[in-house]
Amino acid sequence: MRLRYGDVIEEKDPDDERKLVLSGGFMVPDRNSFGHTFRDYDVKSSQQKGAEEFYRINHINQTYEFVKRMREEYGKLNRVEMNYPKKDWLHLTGLIHDLGKVLLHPVFGALPQWAVVGDTYPVGCAFSESIVHHKFFEENPDYNKPTYNTKYGVYSEVRGLNNVMMSWGHDDYMYLVAKENKCTLPSAGLFIIRYHSFYG
Ligand SMILES: [Fe+2]
Repeated sequence: MRLRYGDVIEEKDPDDERKLVLSGGFMVPDRNSFGHTFRDYDVKSSQQKGAEEFYRINHINQTYEFVKRMREEYGKLNRVEMNYPKKDWLHLTGLIHDLGKVLLHPVFGALPQWAVVGDTYPVGCAFSESIVHHKFFEENPDYNKPTYNTKYGVYSEVRGLNNVMMSWGHDDYMYLVAKENKCTLPSAGLFIIRYHSFYG
């Protein structure tokens, strides 16, 4: 539910913690006398109210009794049995796989988010239709370039994923860092680092 500025949370439906009963809401004009839209303020207000409601429920319910009961219950560790893989390299890979996000930091070039995070996909050939929001590729200069917009594009034949250039982001950067530093992770670990954002 999206709250508009001016909506008043009057009471909580006792049957549903998440359902808010709104009343007394009043409509506000879309623009103020300076011609500025209220929309941004609406969103901010909505987010603030959402956060405020979270803290309200949290502060009401976190009693000494509650915490004691939860510690006793969850201290039994009887919910599920987690089997941790014995492969030590996998733990290390999990720990470092996202470190390439330092690309956002000024020291590493302060790259914009679109060049650091998000799904990755092959470039140099037609963008797969299975990629989320494929339609936006229509404005990518490569979309209409004959060299790049065929099924295999610059790749004359299928030669293994390691020979395919992926869109730039934190995956490939961390892979390059690991490779150039002669990282001793097994190839499966390097593969995880390099392709963990590849869903297309
Ligand atoms: Fe990642």
